Amino acid sequence: MVLAANANAAGSHVGEWRHPDAWDRPAANLQNAVRLAQVAEAGKFDLLFLADGNGVRQLDKPDLFRATSPSDRPGVFEPVTLLAALSMATQHIGLVATATTTYDEPFHVARRFASLDHLSGGRAGWNLVTTSNPEDALNFSHAEHMARDARYPRAAEFATVVKGLWDSWGDEAFPQDKASGTFLLPEQVSMLNHKGPHFQVRGPLNAPRPPQGHPVVFSAGQSEAGKDLSAQHADCVFAIEGNLANARKLYADIKGRLSKFGRGPDDMRILAGVTIFVGETEAEAEALFQQLEDLVSPAVGVDYLSKMLGHRMRDYPLDGPMPVFGDEHVGHTGIGKGILSLAYAEGLTVRQTYQRILPQMGGNMFKGSAGQIADLMEEWFATRACDGFMIAAPVVPTGLERFIRLVVPELRRRGLFREEYEGSTLRDNLGLARPAGRFP
Ligand SMILES: Cc1cc2nc3c(=O)[nH]c(=O)nc-3n(C[C@H](O)[C@H](O)[C@H](O)COP(=O)(O)O)c2cc1C
Repeated sequence: MVLAANANAAGSHVGEWRHPDAWDRPAANLQNAVRLAQVAEAGKFDLLFLADGNGVRQLDKPDLFRATSPSDRPGVFEPVTLLAALSMATQHIGLVATATTTYDEPFHVARRFASLDHLSGGRAGWNLVTTSNPEDALNFSHAEHMARDARYPRAAEFATVVKGLWDSWGDEAFPQDKASGTFLLPEQVSMLNHKGPHFQVRGPLNAPRPPQGHPVVFSAGQSEAGKDLSAQHADCVFAIEGNLANARKLYADIKGRLSKFGRGPDDMRILAGVTIFVGETEAEAEALFQQLEDLVSPAVGVDYLSKMLGHRMRDYPLDGPMPVFGDEHVGHTGIGKGILSLAYAEGLTVRQTYQRILPQMGGNMFKGSAGQIADLMEEWFATRACDGFMIAAPVVPTGLERFIRLVVPELRRRGLFREEYEGSTLRDNLGLARPAGRFP
């Protein structure tokens, strides 16, 4: 079972940073990030994951803007820069950062992640996103966000170019032999000469081939186009589904698409995103859950719901039914649609809907004692709802420490999780093959 830690130092619940156990001053705090990485590595987690975007969000939602939500990240490090620092403070754990194919250049992305892979000895991963926040566009000379139909073809070409650049050199292309004066082998470099609709890139990349061949590519799209992109290019997929039946369906759907691209089901790991509230007892987990809910005012909760749905929810009565939205717009993702269908199915009010989604950011939540959590994880894993989990722990770092102290030993007892890292690279630990490259 793969275990990944969502490494947002501000946690995953909107109320969390205010909790007495939460870190003080979590904005751009290197010491916190180092500690979190070391905690996750001591628990033998496969990887740390840093979500990212390029715009300060919620400027139009005064209460949420002031209180902030963990997924808005108004004061964080650029993720690859942070992971470069963390690579010096860790030895085994994978380091996965997000970069956008919509507002970046493939050459820059290939170069940054090749560098991170070298710095970390083969532990880098790139979370490929097409950018979920429409306002990021305004920081990149665009008046509005690129539409989804345009973003995904660009993303597929972007990934092809990045991988091509990573294969610029043979693995032994830099002998750096003082005696013969041979720094590099010219026969082990290839030009990319890519000419496509979105990018023209000659190459080669100005970095030796990454230790992993290709840093591990992650992706999270759940639209049709997003799933196809994952099947074509991703080694790992983050999937968010609120229940076991839907997660199994999504798992089969994404894995079923791999053969279209000449790949097999074992060439990809699917990680279910889940927020885990664990206590020594079920009652302790429930108490923490309630404490966090109480730290969020209705004004902040409603703003948060507006953010998740892309609609101004202040315009509707707090204790009235959820309004019916039929329109599709650019900020409206699969996550937003999932929230709406849940609210309609259960007849929730606006207040009940925000209360329902706060703890799991519109995704999934496991809550209970260690045994109960391990049962759920085992069931999801054994019934092919996922190959592992992307875990958000409420209240950082104590939530992650508690998970490692209480749940990890239980998973080990059941033979579901490693005692020691299997290899030295992230690919080794995930059991993924190293791409051969152009100079086998
Ligand atoms: C676990 C998870 C993490 C994500 N992280 C990011 C992120 O860091 N940055 C971002 O722009 N989008 C992120 N997304 C959003 C996805 O990239 C994608 O836009 C979203 O799931 C909607 O998918 P679709 O565009 O295929 O509808 C994330 C999604 C999930 C499920």
